[in-house]
Amino acid sequence: MSDKLGVFGNPIKHSLSPRIHSLFAEQTGRHVDYQRLLVSPYGFSSAVAGQFSQGLVGANVTVPFKQAAYRIVTQHLGSAAHSGAVNTLISAPHGGLIGANTDGDGLVAALKSKGVSLAGRRILLLGAGGASRGVMPALNAEKPDVIWVWNRTPSRAEQLASLFDSAQVLRHWSSARKPDLIINATSASLFGESLALPEHLLDADTVGYDMVYSRDATAFQSQFKASGGGVCFDGLRMLVEQAAVSFSLWFSCDKPETEAIYHQLRNEL
Ligand code: ATR
Repeated sequence: MSDKLGVFGNPIKHSLSPRIHSLFAEQTGRHVDYQRLLVSPYGFSSAVAGQFSQGLVGANVTVPFKQAAYRIVTQHLGSAAHSGAVNTLISAPHGGLIGANTDGDGLVAALKSKGVSLAGRRILLLGAGGASRGVMPALNAEKPDVIWVWNRTPSRAEQLASLFDSAQVLRHWSSARKPDLIINATSASLFGESLALPEHLLDADTVGYDMVYSRDATAFQSQFKASGGGVCFDGLRMLVEQAAVSFSLWFSCDKPETEAIYHQLRNEL
């Protein structure tokens, strides 16, 4: 019999998660039935309750429900307690749901797989929404020199930065030194919108990471290059890595191998 899993989101049609988890299941000799679960904007908690009562053993949560997921779980695992956002739901043994956030571990693993180290580095994080909240604990734990948080709406950046010791709000580009790494956690790329990038702070050594992925360059990747930045990755590796951590939580197993699966998905995009 297959273990029932799924991903809640809206939109959800193009999610790669079913494909990724079926590859993990194949690799680890398990049988899973992983579905895309489209949820209406106000129907999240009832959809989750309904699916888990029908035998779901675990789920992922994606845009725009990660903060709602944080609020409905009965227990937060690890960094989810500090991030205010949950991307992984696990059925608790005695009822209720456990919430985890694997995005941060996924991002850090993705950066390491590209040879990007974080300890002692200057990081500029663009955005202060759910995506940024999710990755902040893991970035902070890597002990960077500083994480500057920039957001279009500065009050949200202030709120987020106040929770982490290595974070500072960046209100004006002029107050920053050159970052080693710029991470785009805004949703601008999703809508093909460009961001105000501090061009004078970028050079060929500046590394970029867009949490959004795409077959062709994302809007952020194109802009980063045009602004004089160096190598800039899209978010596909992060997607695979966060999925691997979720899989290991659902099945209490080691993280599946990700390298070959990442390359396979890249070819399939
Ligand atoms: P998510 O949970 O996916 O992060 P969100 O909470 O709506 O979604 O946050 C989206 C982030 O993208 C926010 O930081 C948002 O900035 P605001 O807080 O000012 O809204 C940012 N964002 C979206 N479109 C943007 C744009 N065109 N330029 C700059 N920032 C943008």
